[in-house]
Amino acid sequence: MVQPRQQINQIAMYSPGKPVEELKREKGLSKIIKMASNENPFGYSPRAAEAIQAEMKEIPYYPEVTAPLLAEKLANRLEVSPDQILFGSGSDEIIRLLTRTYINEGDEVVMAGVTFPRYKTNVIIEGGVPVEVEMKEGTHDLDAMYQAINGKTKIVFVCNPNNPTGTIVEKEALKAFIEKVPSDVMLVMDEAYYEYADSPQYLETLPLLDQHKNMVILRTFSKVYGLAALRIGYGLMCTDMVDHLRKVKEPFNVNRLAQTAASASLDDDEFMYESISLNREGRDYLNDSFGRMNLSYFPTQTNFIMVDVSEPAEEVHEFLLNQGIIIRPGHLMGYPTMIRVTIGKQEDNERFIESLQSFLEKNKSNVHQS
Ligand SMILES: Cc1ncc(COP(=O)(O)O)c(C=O)c1O
Repeated sequence: MVQPRQQINQIAMYSPGKPVEELKREKGLSKIIKMASNENPFGYSPRAAEAIQAEMKEIPYYPEVTAPLLAEKLANRLEVSPDQILFGSGSDEIIRLLTRTYINEGDEVVMAGVTFPRYKTNVIIEGGVPVEVEMKEGTHDLDAMYQAINGKTKIVFVCNPNNPTGTIVEKEALKAFIEKVPSDVMLVMDEAYYEYADSPQYLETLPLLDQHKNMVILRTFSKVYGLAALRIGYGLMCTDMVDHLRKVKEPFNVNRLAQTAASASLDDDEFMYESISLNREGRDYLNDSFGRMNLSYFPTQTNFIMVDVSEPAEEVHEFLLNQGIIIRPGHLMGYPTMIRVTIGKQEDNERFIESLQSFLEKNKSNVHQS
């Protein structure tokens, strides 16, 4: 057999949320609710839909390699230079490009103990060493992460808000951390859920970008803009780093439909604000319901919630799958009795709560019988 590089044997296959189509086939169910991958349950902008239709005739032609029209529009909105933006096939691709471009074998990369798994995987692929720092109260322990930085450290990832916990790091602590990270260590702020964060404790990092040439901010069109399937996200960073990454990226990494849909989405703030507002209502409903059920949960600043159901996560997951509801079991992420649920439409949130309640009642009566 042809052997892969040794690093490939060290990584596990990515396990995505179960696709709706797969569950339909397996269980013969007609109505499936997917609350597993933090997608936007309210769809995407009708303006993006029109733009995609109009762009279809251009499909025979390669897209522009730097998405200049989109870069210009986004740069105006964010008040950065277009040369400080690099688009990727999802922000996933920017993470991969960063590790591909900057990690030498043996370089250390500091990250939270429970965070977005693609950091660790990509670091291992490049022969780097992931340094996972234990979480404190469900969020990044910035003091411990700072202590973990040494002469071998190349990158620090801070996922804010964090996936899978939904938590943010406190504003002043993060500001102080950004000031302290040495200038030859890259600090990647993954802000995939930026638009949902509404806490006064959430730090706006963008104004700090120009003074911190080692900082990269990651954002995406996959979440609040609802364009997950088109694959488009971006990194904001100094122009030197953009130049490095452009040498490494595939020339046509962001397709035409993604570029045009992202651009049209930026013209439709109404859709974005409506999604944020509906998400907030769903968050309040789920938090209240968990409170009534005496379940504890991490305070979320995203479109998902991690809740402790005090039962084995695999069992809850299986029970909900049989009811046509897909969530993420926490045992895969180091929380054996927690589940991560994406905030859905109100009717879906209600169906989820009813099913969870019936699971917990069934288990309670089983305990009483035994
Ligand atoms: C924290 C975080 N970063 C990055 C991503 C990647 O998103 P995308 O590649 O769709 O932009 C996700 C997706 O779930 C995420 O949760």
